[in-house]
Amino acid sequence: MFQHLDPYAGDPILSLNEAFQKDPRADKVNLSIGIYFDEQGRIPVLDSVRQAEAQMLAEGGTKSYLPIEGSAAMRGAVQGLLFGPGHEALASGRVATLQTVGSSGGLKVGADFIQRWLPGSAVWVSDPTWDNHRAMFEGAGLQVHTYPYYDAGDASASPPRQGGGLRFDAMLATLRTLPARSVVLLHACCHNPTGVDLSPAQWQALVPVLRERDLLPYLDLAYQGYGDGIEADAHAVRLLADSGMTFFVANSFSKSMSVYGERAGALSVVCADAAEATLVLGQMKATVRRNYSSPGLHAAGIVSRVLTDATLRPQWEAEVAAMRERIAKMRRQLHDLLAARRPGDDFSYFLSQRGMFSYTGLSPAQVDRLRDEFGVYLVRSGRMCVAGLNSGNVERTAAAMSAVLGTA
Ligand SMILES: Cc1ncc(COP(=O)(O)O)c(C=O)c1O
Repeated sequence: MFQHLDPYAGDPILSLNEAFQKDPRADKVNLSIGIYFDEQGRIPVLDSVRQAEAQMLAEGGTKSYLPIEGSAAMRGAVQGLLFGPGHEALASGRVATLQTVGSSGGLKVGADFIQRWLPGSAVWVSDPTWDNHRAMFEGAGLQVHTYPYYDAGDASASPPRQGGGLRFDAMLATLRTLPARSVVLLHACCHNPTGVDLSPAQWQALVPVLRERDLLPYLDLAYQGYGDGIEADAHAVRLLADSGMTFFVANSFSKSMSVYGERAGALSVVCADAAEATLVLGQMKATVRRNYSSPGLHAAGIVSRVLTDATLRPQWEAEVAAMRERIAKMRRQLHDLLAARRPGDDFSYFLSQRGMFSYTGLSPAQVDRLRDEFGVYLVRSGRMCVAGLNSGNVERTAAAMSAVLGTA
């Protein structure tokens, strides 16, 4: 029956993580998968989350199904987190929010919805983007194209031109050519894989272009709190909500609450008015019902408690700040160590890029050498998860990088 199937090539990042687990070297360093590790190299369980779980256990309660759209408490808490409590879009009831199975679940439900209700709309993603974006939207039957984003520089120019920034003018120029109702996928903060974000002024300049062309922004907010802060990282969401445009935002708690396996996320659609939001929520529910029926109860309990409890909320905010500051410290340390070893090279990208990831510019061959000779694992695109560094492995990482730099 199934002998004709193509073997699954595996997800490149998850496969790399499996290879890392099997690597017998004691001093191996995992800088590939997008997970925050603490100073001891562990995936932390946040105290705020542990306490929320203890409260849930003590209170007992039911294990019944949640509604298709998820927990009302969580959906309300997510709206406050994204838009700021009391935002006009919330007060006027024009935001449809569903709890989803991680933000991946939200992205896919949104993709299925677009395929059903805006047939013919193509999706435009940044070049480069998280690999799964293309897979998900194409999997929903949509055409996926790219808009210019990251400036890779030009090593063959004379003298070689260093890149590293954002190709903002080229990005806007492409968006100005798109047909109305094209979907534009935007990373709200901490761009994956490059770590290069739009500045607040660039977001401000982007909104009129999106509006004039009647485009449909689709924000992916997977790293809230890892860039400049929980509130600051919601800047793009609030700017678009203030503009009155219709848009999607899929947000995740995997990283911000360190609850990866709980699959905690949400999808919100900001509509023109409450009547439209009701229609959208209804059809989103139909999409969920024929996919996974309803999301998880435990995820809802954690997220709604942490976000709304007067003690747990500030505790969580402090824990997010500590994770963000530890990453910033590691960026500085790696930068300083590399700058000392290779004074002629520019490593300032480690300081300017935001969030968990840095695009190092290392070639696939250099990444292979790092892994094979030194046990330092990066993604072959040259993406490094800076959140995998700690004071025990940063020097070894700098020495290994320094050894492969300057070689082909
Ligand atoms: C850009 C981006 N979007 C979405 C996700 C999905 O997150 P989750 O499904 O765990 O919420 C990730 C996870 O790595 C990501 O990097």
